[in-house]
Amino acid sequence: MTAARTVEIVPSLLSADLSRLPAELRRVQEGGAEWVTVDVMDGHFVPNLSFGPDLVRAVKRLAPLRVDVHLMVTNPEAAAPWFVKAGADRVIFHLEASSDPGALARALRAQGVEAGIAVKPATPADGLLPLLSEADLALVMTVEPGFGGAAFLPAMLPKIAAVRRDLDERGLPCRLQVDGGVNLETVEAAAGAGAEVLVAGAGVFASADPAGTIRTLRAKAQAAYSGRAG
Ligand code: DX5
Repeated sequence: MTAARTVEIVPSLLSADLSRLPAELRRVQEGGAEWVTVDVMDGHFVPNLSFGPDLVRAVKRLAPLRVDVHLMVTNPEAAAPWFVKAGADRVIFHLEASSDPGALARALRAQGVEAGIAVKPATPADGLLPLLSEADLALVMTVEPGFGGAAFLPAMLPKIAAVRRDLDERGLPCRLQVDGGVNLETVEAAAGAGAEVLVAGAGVFASADPAGTIRTLRAKAQAAYSGRAG
């Protein structure tokens, strides 16, 4: 039986209006979110180019939010220190890009930063499971990474459930995050499969009331997560 866990909604700034960043961060806080995600894309690991460490610095200056940095880059060992220095509270790197994921996770934790390990849709969970005892968070991508607003991949639900099952059977504290296409229509399936941290970009910032949407997402996710069988 999974210990009672509180689900979290983590808005992704990839879909925020950066010309109104202070107001967007206020809306996130009004919705009760404590984290935001900064999606870092290098144009090599994914076919898009996005943010650098300065956005993390700006968020930390503007709001008392914790910042989760999702490194979609080919060189996470080189890039991670830049974001730690900028004030990231968690750094998530891809299993597919790291030469020694266990070492990188340990290095992040040694600096007091949470370590997350992510897998793309085509990467089986098998490579992730042995690392769950070394990480604070595991991220199962529910879209092919690179852009906000993509459609949630239901084919990832068995992978989410498999990682959830392993975490529960081993009693590991590592949290399970999903990212990609999470919105009011898909959040219950994701949380019902066992995801407890749900990143949402377009699902939040494209809505008429981001704060209200965050609250509704959280309520739906908590009910679905808590209502899982087993
Ligand atoms: C990878 C990015 C996106 C983003 C969330 O492309 O990691 O998944 O965080 O984007 P939405 O919620 O708009 O799919």
